Amino acid sequence: MTQLPDYQQTNQTITFAFPKHPLQLFVLTPTIIRVFENRGDNGSSYAVADHKEQSTSFTIKTVGDHYELQTSNLLVKIDGDRHIDVYDAAGNALAVDYRGKRQLLDKGVDKVHERLVKAEGHNVSGATTGSGQYYQIVKSLAKDEHFYGLGDKTGYLDKRGFEYDNWNVDNPAPQLENFTKLYKSIPVMYGLKNGHPYGLFFDNPYKSHFDMGKESPNYYFYSAVAGNLDYYILGGNSLKDVVANYTYLTGRVPLPQKWTLGYQQSRWGYSASQKEVQAVADNLKKFDIPCDAIHFDVDYMRGYRVFTWDKDQYEGDPKHFITSLKKQGIKAVPIIDPGVKKDPNYEVYADGVKKGYFVKSPDGQVYINKVWPGDSAFPDFGRPEVRKWWARHDKFLVDMGVGGIWNDMNEPASFEGPIPDDVVFSDQDLPSTHKKMHNVYGHNMAQATYAGLKHYQGKRPYVITRAAYAGTQKYSTVWTGDNRSIWPHIQMMIPQLCNLGLSGFSFAGVDIGGFASDTNPELLTRWIEAAIFSPLLRNHAAMGTRHQEPWSFGDPTLSIYRKFVKLRYRFIPYLYDLFEKQTKSGLPIMRPLVLVDDTDPRVRDLNDEFMVGDNVLVAPIVEKSKTKRLVYLPAGEWVDFWNDRQYTGHQDIVVDTPLDKLPLFIRNNTILPWGNPVNHISETPDRTMTFRVYGNQGHYDHYQDDGVDFNYQNGEFNHYTISVKNGQVAINLPHHGFKPIYETINVELSDNQIKLRYDAAAGEYRQS
Ligand code: GLC
Repeated sequence: MTQLPDYQQTNQTITFAFPKHPLQLFVLTPTIIRVFENRGDNGSSYAVADHKEQSTSFTIKTVGDHYELQTSNLLVKIDGDRHIDVYDAAGNALAVDYRGKRQLLDKGVDKVHERLVKAEGHNVSGATTGSGQYYQIVKSLAKDEHFYGLGDKTGYLDKRGFEYDNWNVDNPAPQLENFTKLYKSIPVMYGLKNGHPYGLFFDNPYKSHFDMGKESPNYYFYSAVAGNLDYYILGGNSLKDVVANYTYLTGRVPLPQKWTLGYQQSRWGYSASQKEVQAVADNLKKFDIPCDAIHFDVDYMRGYRVFTWDKDQYEGDPKHFITSLKKQGIKAVPIIDPGVKKDPNYEVYADGVKKGYFVKSPDGQVYINKVWPGDSAFPDFGRPEVRKWWARHDKFLVDMGVGGIWNDMNEPASFEGPIPDDVVFSDQDLPSTHKKMHNVYGHNMAQATYAGLKHYQGKRPYVITRAAYAGTQKYSTVWTGDNRSIWPHIQMMIPQLCNLGLSGFSFAGVDIGGFASDTNPELLTRWIEAAIFSPLLRNHAAMGTRHQEPWSFGDPTLSIYRKFVKLRYRFIPYLYDLFEKQTKSGLPIMRPLVLVDDTDPRVRDLNDEFMVGDNVLVAPIVEKSKTKRLVYLPAGEWVDFWNDRQYTGHQDIVVDTPLDKLPLFIRNNTILPWGNPVNHISETPDRTMTFRVYGNQGHYDHYQDDGVDFNYQNGEFNHYTISVKNGQVAINLPHHGFKPIYETINVELSDNQIKLRYDAAAGEYRQS
């Protein structure tokens, strides 16, 4: 054992004087410790926006051959060989450095065989795991250890046994469980080791790699190609605590506008003409499908020039059309890609060139690659000045009357080969490279879009982005990119959205029906059922595929689709309440069962059920021709949403699942708000609200505001509590800051309906 280095303590920072790279531990809170080794990389974090240190008491002492740093929740041991071992306060191992040597999966094949393997189009295995890392952190893997998080990666809820890369890519191939990378890099992982939860967040934007026990059953590792060693140990008494800690660090999804929780219709191609978009709006109305937004894909622009609108296709006046859509209850959400068409006569390009706002080749020329507009330049979003410039362009769209902005292709995607690593990008005001700034490109673009919308619209910005880094959730909702109309992708939706939620992205969704390939009536039906609780609810498809609007296949698809979208609108007040709670707790809306109860071994890799909050359990059909399914009910008592039958948990039940059935269970003694039956979320405040009681008692906290702007931050909101016990209902108003209060509140008990009226003089609700 190597001798222990000296250490120095400055407040909550300990610096261990290891030769070459001193190692620092920053005690931020009793449950968050940052591990840092400066390896010469400048710049500050894109994920962790501000100061996170809280005054925390801890001890540090020498014990035998190592140091022990102890907070009330975590114990970290550091030895002379730089091993960092993390335990919880009870002494259970959480993240302990692996002492052995890594064993490469495949030491390589000889040249002749490599040629043959590649000739049939295969990759030579081991290529990503073995090479290219600059540093690696290898931790021991227990027999009983499960992994979650990692953002949008494909595959299953439990990431154990797979490897992943953090390098944002636009890959149109069918995304299956062997995919190592997608559009987002969210390098946070949660472990449940022998039932004990912890997390590790690696804050390094450079390309990095996770091997979650693919190479060996004895260890897992993280490696990066460059950058400082900079990671956070996240503790807590439950997985929920650990997720709360991660979102405390990287930020939480701000309260969205309420209508953004409504149904949204999209298809690449609609926006090529006003007629087509209006026909979609007409059909939504004709077929009685509630809807709050239609998305405008790239075709609305003039030759794919961002911040233009092709007037010729919009009877000369797109603003007039957008206003008319709004009167029909539908907001317009146009797409904006980063690629700026190379055209000296186009203002955005000419201005960007003049100001030096595009990324450059090392020789100083504006770097050009191809995307939809053909030759295009790429804004240098890492620079604050460029973000401001981009944000100013949002005015064009806000003046047009749009509801939000959809950011796409911001990995950044490029059609003419990858952007070389050495293209010059900025890291704030420091010159940097594509190699470093790639994974935060979408993040910075989303931040700029958020700032522009907030400034010009004054409402809570609605931004949707495809590429993201840790922390992007502060600015934008996300969708999972180009999935396909195939059953494996409806299956993937559940673990993918659950892991995104654990990774801070509470506001996420997938293209319902599938983007690429052709959907079919059964798949579309099961998809809308499975997605109806997904925070972002958008049906979107690629140009050239079979149409998949709700009415495309007639009945029964249409009537089932309608039934579920209408159900969604009933649940919007519940979802909105969960969003408001999320701003404080950091806990996602859509939750894997393991988050709700991490002590239940049955739910540690459950891929076809999820919870909405803690009390609604959804077990969708994600397989073809399935007329029955097994549903695992966790501990507790459960009520079948459709027929009020009661079940005791900790058992599997068989549920009949005809095409129009979504198995749905409510935890006994739950109160749920039940939205009014509307086809659009109105900006006129609700004057009445209903609460449904499942079981015979319960308590519920309900939130209400105008659902639009930031006035709630000045106290303009109402907070109601609804309590039911022994057939008695009590409604209180602990905060009344939003004037238009509910005049009546209906409480639906299992055997009775109670109506309460607001008595303004007394300032309370009374039974009428
Ligand atoms: C990308 C997006 C997709 C969009 C298309 C055209 O493939 O992921 O949603 O429809 O580009 O803009």
